[in-house]
Amino acid sequence: MNYQIAVLAGDGIGPEVVDTSLSVLDHLAKQYGFGLSVHHHRFGGVAIDSDGHPFPEQLKGALKDADAVFLGAVGGPKWDKLPRELRCETGLLALRKHLGVFSNLRPVKVFAGLEHLSPLKSEVAKGTDMLIVRELTGGIYFGKPSHNLSTEGLSTMVYQKPEVERIARVAFEAAKERGGKVTSVDKANVLDVSQFWRDVVIGVQQSEYPHIELDHLYIDNAAMQVARDPKQFDVVVTGNLFGDILSDLAAVIPGSLGLLPSASLGAGTGLFEPVHGSAPDIAGKGIANPVGTMLSAALMLRHGLKQSSAADALEKAVQQALSDDPTKDLGGSRNTAAFTKAVISGLKALVIS
Ligand code: NAD
Ligand code: IPM
Ligand code: MN
Repeated sequence: MNYQIAVLAGDGIGPEVVDTSLSVLDHLAKQYGFGLSVHHHRFGGVAIDSDGHPFPEQLKGALKDADAVFLGAVGGPKWDKLPRELRCETGLLALRKHLGVFSNLRPVKVFAGLEHLSPLKSEVAKGTDMLIVRELTGGIYFGKPSHNLSTEGLSTMVYQKPEVERIARVAFEAAKERGGKVTSVDKANVLDVSQFWRDVVIGVQQSEYPHIELDHLYIDNAAMQVARDPKQFDVVVTGNLFGDILSDLAAVIPGSLGLLPSASLGAGTGLFEPVHGSAPDIAGKGIANPVGTMLSAALMLRHGLKQSSAADALEKAVQQALSDDPTKDLGGSRNTAAFTKAVISGLKALVIS
């Protein structure tokens, strides 16, 4: 089997974490006997510089043949003053919408024996295994009207019933395979759109998933609960903005934003990218943590390419490398290259053992 992978390395640490992950993927392809045709495309700030647009029109054609899209990160101070429609982040939203990837899966897991990497007490972090299911192509990120005038700023949070139903189903289906519990996070005490969200989620549970446990938290309490006792969560389902914030917060539990992966799925081609951004403060230093991107590659292998043995091996090798000596953001001594080397050695050892 030969897969076509569209690679959008992007800006800042994007190319650093993508390149090292591609070398790991290349190794896995040889080990597990599949082919990867990797096609690099400019996207984000680098595309603004070369083509005048973060999501150039020709990229849409190129993505048609892709089995998966693998993305680093976009954005940076160089492009922050551009008009909204030309911003890197607007290009990323347009890409997600174009691919129809409404379901953003952000697993947050503390691997056994790695709880010491958490800034939280070990007994709090230990055993954390939750899946944040973030709605990705609706909500306040896409609501109309929206404007920034000299006298007024406006964004609109809107959800249609089918949008909430389909993301709720993703969460309930995931819970079926996991701990059987969904927590829906909203702000129904204040926002009409959130009360609507809650009512629709309850409707889906009652009619289609009566055996899955469902509870509800307001976003402010949910943020506190995630930090206080993350083990109470199995699947968390929430809207676009709340999911964005909650996942950065949850990254503190395993120890670094650089650890978290994501898979964005819809009916067609999936998009796989780490949760973090382009990290301009550490870009070019060779110290970025590549784990979030490598674990996104594992999600791509599992969900996008149906190569689950290779995905399992990659997750195992990453876990081993973290426990031997992690990257600097986690208090370890390895830089990006040294960590990647350790992962590849680990993959070789897995075959032998
Ligand atoms: P960020 O995620 O880039 O960085 C936040 C902090 O985490 C920084 O201190 C950074 O050094 C650290 N960090 C992030 N990834 C790391 C890694 N792999 N290893 C070690 N440390 C890591 O968030 P920000 O600074 O708010 O945003 C910077 C730019 O990235 C902005 O332009 C923003 O819009 C963009 N952004 C893009 C994406 C994306 O492309 N998906 C996601 C988030 C932010
Ligand atoms: C993320 C990022 C993006 C988001 C930005 C860069 C548009 O923060 O992927 O988490 O808010 O979705
Ligand atoms: Mn974010």
